[in-house]
Amino acid sequence: MKKTLTFIGNGNMAKAMIKGLVGKYTLEVYGRNESSLDALKKEINELNIYPLNESLNIEGKDIILCVKPNSLEDLSPKLQGCANSLYSVLAGTKLETLQEKIKAKSYIRAMPNVAASYQKSMTTLTGDEALKAEAIEIFSNIGETLWLKTEKEIDIATAVAGSGPAFLALIAEALSDGGVNAGLARADANRLVQGLFSGFAPMIANAKPSEIKDSVMSPGGTTAAGYATIEKNGVRSGMIEAIKSAYEKACELSKK
Ligand SMILES: NC(=O)c1ccc[n+]([C@@H]2O[C@H](COP(=O)([O-])OP(=O)(O)OC[C@H]3O[C@@H](n4cnc5c(N)ncnc54)[C@H](OP(=O)(O)O)[C@@H]3O)[C@@H](O)[C@H]2O)c1
Repeated sequence: MKKTLTFIGNGNMAKAMIKGLVGKYTLEVYGRNESSLDALKKEINELNIYPLNESLNIEGKDIILCVKPNSLEDLSPKLQGCANSLYSVLAGTKLETLQEKIKAKSYIRAMPNVAASYQKSMTTLTGDEALKAEAIEIFSNIGETLWLKTEKEIDIATAVAGSGPAFLALIAEALSDGGVNAGLARADANRLVQGLFSGFAPMIANAKPSEIKDSVMSPGGTTAAGYATIEKNGVRSGMIEAIKSAYEKACELSKK
């Protein structure tokens, strides 16, 4: 018999996860907006959907918590009983806060990213070691996973892999702008960047960034000229500082 997973919340992240998990688990989804629940059921028929009313008995359930961090205050008093496990995707919400607000035997914090919609998330996980194997199994259905030992590391990972798609989007846009600046049509420049990123994915999975760079950069060549300009303009240090700022912000938010 398939294990049952219980989603609380049916927004973007819940939907991305449900698409990856459907067929492998029995899925039940509790949401407060009946019309959006009905729309989800229309899209994915195998779901059991339930309205989230004044109270919900979570006794013995394996919960995937998919609401916004600031909804925890309002939601938690409605949850009665003790869940078997609680998987939270709430950005910046500490295990300690989850333990205070919702009763469960074991807790996991997961940090997926927006690529979950394509089952290509880079998800970091931390929490009770007893749930490690199961957490990896569940979240592997929406992409790759990495188990981290501490919450500090998951806050850093939030900056790298959570915010990362936005940082890569900036690089992608800048490359396209550069092409247009030099005379390419926008549609052609965008098409080149799309192809570049999809070709880059298997390369970065199999080689270090420095190896890729060295394999392209010939002495006195075009890449070397462009690379020197990138360094002169502080792109590397800008990215390092961006990760630092995003990490500091994650720490600040998790204290609220
Ligand atoms: N999206 C991402 O890329 C991403 C990445 C990493 C982590 N996360 C985390 O995933 C979580 C969900 O994000 P999301 O993008 O899926 O947000 P979302 O699309 O806004 O979905 C939030 C869901 O929570 C429900 N909800 C809100 N307040 C509630 C309350 N008081 N009681 C019950 N249900 C409530 C919403 O219901 P209504 O439809 O009625 O408002 C909706 O179903 C967040 O904690 C976020 O930090 C998201």
